[in-house]
Formats: sequence, C-alpha cells, structure tokens
Amino acid sequence: MPQQLSPIRTSTLHTIGRTPIVKLRRVVPANSADVLVKLEYFNPTGSYKDRMALAMIEEAEMRGDLRPGMTVLEYTGGSTGSSLAFVCAVKGYPFKVVSSDAFAQEKLNTMRAFGAELEIIPSRGGQITADLIPSLIARAKELAQEENIYFTDQFHNRDSLKGYAKIGLELLLQVPDGIDAFCGGVGTAGMLMGVSEALHDGGSQSRVIAFEPATSAVISTGTPGSHHVEGIGVGFRPPLLDADLYDEVRAIDEGQGRKMARRLAREEGIFAGTSTGVNVIGAIQLAQELGPGHTVVTVASDSGLKYLTGELYGG
Ligand SMILES: Cc1ncc(COP(=O)(O)O)c(C=O)c1O
Repeated sequence: MPQQLSPIRTSTLHTIGRTPIVKLRRVVPANSADVLVKLEYFNPTGSYKDRMALAMIEEAEMRGDLRPGMTVLEYTGGSTGSSLAFVCAVKGYPFKVVSSDAFAQEKLNTMRAFGAELEIIPSRGGQITADLIPSLIARAKELAQEENIYFTDQFHNRDSLKGYAKIGLELLLQVPDGIDAFCGGVGTAGMLMGVSEALHDGGSQSRVIAFEPATSAVISTGTPGSHHVEGIGVGFRPPLLDADLYDEVRAIDEGQGRKMARRLAREEGIFAGTSTGVNVIGAIQLAQELGPGHTVVTVASDSGLKYLTGELYGG
C-alpha cells in the first residue's frame, strides 16, 4: 500500500504533533513487557515542548490576554524557550528569555536563531543547583512587571496541559490494544499530567509513573540536590503535579540514563537526550516487573542534536 504523504501545510505550526511511535527491539531484556517510545523529537524544534508552546500562545490569544504588539516572556532551560521562540517567530511576537549557562549552548543558540532576546543568569560550574531555577523565576517575575508583556510562566500555566493532551490522544489511536503503564520524567510535570488526563478521559486504565533524578529526588524524598539532566528535577515540587493524576514516583540514576541514551542511539537508532535515557531506564524497570503480554509507553522527549557539544555525546 502506498504511504500517504502529508499535504502542503499553510504554516510550520501545523507540523507540530502526530509523531511516530516505535517498539524497542534490543535494549529491553527478555521476559519483559513491550516498551514503546513515542518519538517526540520529530516535532519541528526537536522536542515535545513545541506542543506546549503552541498551546500556551494560542490559548492566551483566544482569551485576549496576548495581543499583537505584546512581548512574550519566559524563564527556561532552553527547550521551552526554543519552542516558544519558534512559535513567536511564526506569529510575529518579540520573545524575551531568562536562561542560564547551565543549559546546552545549542538550546541557547537555537533561541537566538529564532530571534529571541536572551538574559543569561550565570550558574555554579554549569550545574543545575537547587537555587538555579528559583533565581531564573525571580528575574522573570521582575521583568513581567514591565509594560506590554505576556509572561507564559510555564510552571503555573495550565494551558500547557492542553498541548500535551494531544500526545495522549495520539497514543489512544496508536496503541489500540491498551497501555498498562505510561511513564516519564517530570520537570514542570505538564507532559505527564496532560497525557495522564487524556489517557484516563479516553478510558485507558494505564498506571502513570513519574521519574526524577536520584540525586534530586524532591518529589519522593523532599530533598533537592544537584544533577545534570536537562528538563527534569527542577529542585521543587512542580505546582502542576497533581496527586490524582499519577500513581507512583521513582528516582532514576542519571548515569544509567546517560548510558541508556548512548545505547539508544547505537542499538535502536533513537538519537535523544539524557531525560529520554532516564525515561527508558524507568520504562524497562516497569517492563521487567509487568512481564510479557503487557505494554509500557514512554516518550523520547527531545533530540540528541541538542547535546552534541556536552558530556552526553561531545565527550
Ligand atoms: C528534555 C526534557 N525532558 C523532559 C522535560 C520535562 O517535561 P515537563 O516539563 O513537561 O515535565 C523537559 C522539560 O523542560 C525537557 O526539556
């Protein structure tokens, strides 16, 4: 049967979503459940944050909170910023970003490429220390007081869940035989919450499991610490994390996550970041517990192309 090619799109914004899903073939041990990975790096800036950025901007436009001539403002480790910079470029909004040198240079340069204006808060030795994100937030709050600003405020913005719900809706169609567990790392928690809600609204009985870096297991132990997994482990319990929408939190060793990210590239052809390695380590744990005949689903959050000069692949 010839493959259906997509028609001409009237905007690059229409290329967000409808990402492929693949079954892992080599990194999952025998006698495990199937592990399926939804390849979110197929989104235009290479991460699932494109879904969130589009939803945060379009919901604000629909309410009239964001109007032509306004500047969009966000604090971000880079992926949300790259996605917002992309959406703002297409829609013609200036975009101001508070970020840090703890995050990949590729992401900072991507935001600049899309025309964003960056303010960089220096980190301690390139580490994501527990005080880093709060210091970005404090600076963004100051800037938000200026005239004509729309502050997307990703950690408190429930519009993001609408964008991520689409991952859940796509999964209901792509995995018609049912999902036993859906899992993923938590930063803002928008992805996990949005997908959980959509799966359960769609009748799925899937368990939902959150992951965080073992050295900063704030949700499971209350103790923040340093780590080097971009996007997750923000040093506090994210306000969007809703206890009714997940079943369990697990702390995952980031070193194992990095090794898995490298194995995913070499053995499965999945070229993604460390948070994806963490997701797959956790998904395999669940797959071994559930055993054959079950299905565990996670996401490849973003592309390995974002980490070519860092310790993950640059090394
Ligand atoms: C690479 C990466 N993985 C995971 C996450 C976590 O996603 P969420 O903020 O929806 O919890 C993020 C968010 O910044 C990310 O950039």
